[in-house]
Amino acid sequence: MGQVRKKAVITGASGGVGRATAVAFARSGFDVALLARGDAGLSAAREEVEALGGAALAVEVDVADAGAVARAAQRVEDDLGEVDVWVNNAMTTVFAPSWELVPADFQRAVEVTFLGQVWGTMAALRHMRPRDRGSIVNVGSALAFVGIPLQSAYCSAKFACRGFFESTRAELLHEQSGVHLSMVHLPAVNTPQFGWCQTTFDRHPQPVPPIYQPETAARAILQVALDGRREKVLGSWNKVLVACDSLFRGVGDHYAAMAAWDSQFTDQPIDPDRPANLRHPVDRVADRGSHGIFDKWAGGFWDPSFLHGLPRTARLFAAAVAGNASERARALRARAARPAG
Ligand SMILES: NC(=O)c1ccc[n+]([C@@H]2O[C@H](COP(=O)([O-])OP(=O)(O)OC[C@H]3O[C@@H](n4cnc5c(N)ncnc54)[C@H](OP(=O)(O)O)[C@@H]3O)[C@@H](O)[C@H]2O)c1
Repeated sequence: MGQVRKKAVITGASGGVGRATAVAFARSGFDVALLARGDAGLSAAREEVEALGGAALAVEVDVADAGAVARAAQRVEDDLGEVDVWVNNAMTTVFAPSWELVPADFQRAVEVTFLGQVWGTMAALRHMRPRDRGSIVNVGSALAFVGIPLQSAYCSAKFACRGFFESTRAELLHEQSGVHLSMVHLPAVNTPQFGWCQTTFDRHPQPVPPIYQPETAARAILQVALDGRREKVLGSWNKVLVACDSLFRGVGDHYAAMAAWDSQFTDQPIDPDRPANLRHPVDRVADRGSHGIFDKWAGGFWDPSFLHGLPRTARLFAAAVAGNASERARALRARAARPAG
């Protein structure tokens, strides 16, 4: 008798990292439930999983809707089988300075990116806790540690994801649960995100280099799901950023202010009316796949254009240290000048 195939649920599986992750799980012998909203991407993802010999179940669901996510989980359990791994990956974002953000857009980005992860974790736990086994992997980012300009909604959501993860993990440890909850913090990845995110700018957004391919992210997510470790920060530059932020918090703000504004745009103009995926999927007619438009630059840390930029990075870091020191000195002078009492 053949071995029973394990079952994985991937949210945001119609495109980008989620799509590559669905393929990685199918390749390693899983049947895969694909959760997202867009028809074209979901159908194409289902075909990719099936071509690799896995059973695939595509479920159209908006992860910001807690009830719909719970119903999707039940459908997966009924139609595909008991879920072994649940990956919370879906996201959306809006590029704009905080003072230009429309409150409803900020709220929607947080509902999908943060609450989507919460509702997914709750739905998975509802089925996994009684069985006392299973693995949940929540997809994080370097931007769950370092806030950068123009991404306040996304960074807020990703920081919140870490808080939710730590509390829930402690609860599972408290009850000595056999369910593992993990996070994988990704670096910049070449995905369709930058072609369909909402933006107030007239240039095509891009991830802050060094840029990695979605298949590299997918391998890390699969690895963590299989070994159940607490967390993984993917990419050497990402590890440096995360470590620096905990050591030199103020310096990080100054560095982000100088280095992470223009670096989030290409020179390519965009149509002011291009459709955005904040509220509705934009792949109703055409599948966008897992890759964005940055294949040429997606060599990760070893991409020559990133390596050539390192001296500039060092200069900006020195300027950030100086900027932070002068801000602290100003605060100290203000404190000294305040009348006592
Ligand atoms: N790309 C990067 O540079 C980068 C860096 C660090 C971390 N990450 C993390 O990697 C993960 C994937 O990002 P990505 O770049 O692959 O994003 P992406 O290319 O924009 O893909 C997002 C996926 O989420 C789905 N989605 C969006 N809104 C949804 C909703 N309301 N309900 C259900 N599904 C929804 C989209 O499909 P539909 O539109 O069809 O629903 C799509 O499948 C995210 O957690 C992100 O934070 C990405």
